[in-house]
Formats: sequence, C-alpha cells, structure tokens
Amino acid sequence: MYNDRVIEEFRHPQNVGEVENYNAIGTVGNEVCGDIMQITLRIEDNIIKDAKFKTFGCTAAVATSSMATSMIIGKTVEEASKLTNKDVIEALGGLPPQKIHCSVLAEEAIGLAIEDYKKKNQK
Ligand code: FES
Repeated sequence: MYNDRVIEEFRHPQNVGEVENYNAIGTVGNEVCGDIMQITLRIEDNIIKDAKFKTFGCTAAVATSSMATSMIIGKTVEEASKLTNKDVIEALGGLPPQKIHCSVLAEEAIGLAIEDYKKKNQK
C-alpha cells in the first residue's frame, strides 16, 4: 500500500518529540479517524529554528509529519505557512488515496502553531 520512501520515513522518523523551549505549539485531531498530532516550533528572528512532532496516528501521519517538519526547518514563518499537504505528499512520492486525509494533520498543526506564535508575539 505504501511506497518505500513512506515506509523508510515511518521506520526512521525525523524530528520526533517536543522542541525544548518551544515558543509555538499546535495540536489537531483528525475527525475521520480520531488520531491526534502535536507540533512544537522554536521560532527566532522569523525563522523556524526547530520543529518536532508527536502523534497518535498511522503510518501516513508519522511519515508526513516527519517530512513536513524537516521541510519547514530553516524556512521563514511565511514560507512555512505556505507548505501544503500536497507538497509533503509529493516529497514522499505519493500516498494511497484513502490516506490523503492523514497528511492534513501536519499541515493543520503547523498552521495552528504559527497562529499561536503570531498571537503570542502581537505587539
Ligand atoms: Fe488517522 Fe491516518 S488513519 S491519521
């Protein structure tokens, strides 16, 4: 069902856990399956310095979160907020159609974390 790239990312996920001294957090649940995802970010000078995820989710949720967090590290807040689940799926070489909904978790959690950061930093 999954391609080798997805399985590799699931077996050796990057950025698992919680960023120490994070200053942005986003948590979302997937209504379809009930799985949960949390993303923490450390943002300094408008750059995502670190990103980590925790998930109670399936293979696709782990693989897409791993890839999505890797893709936003080093990016500006604006660049990171433009990352879509389609970009992540493409980077993973595709997902089975019935697993597309899982990839939305990472995109949404990153979006919420960025919102959280903006709220905390409103002057
Ligand atoms: Fe729930 Fe994939 S089945 S995130």
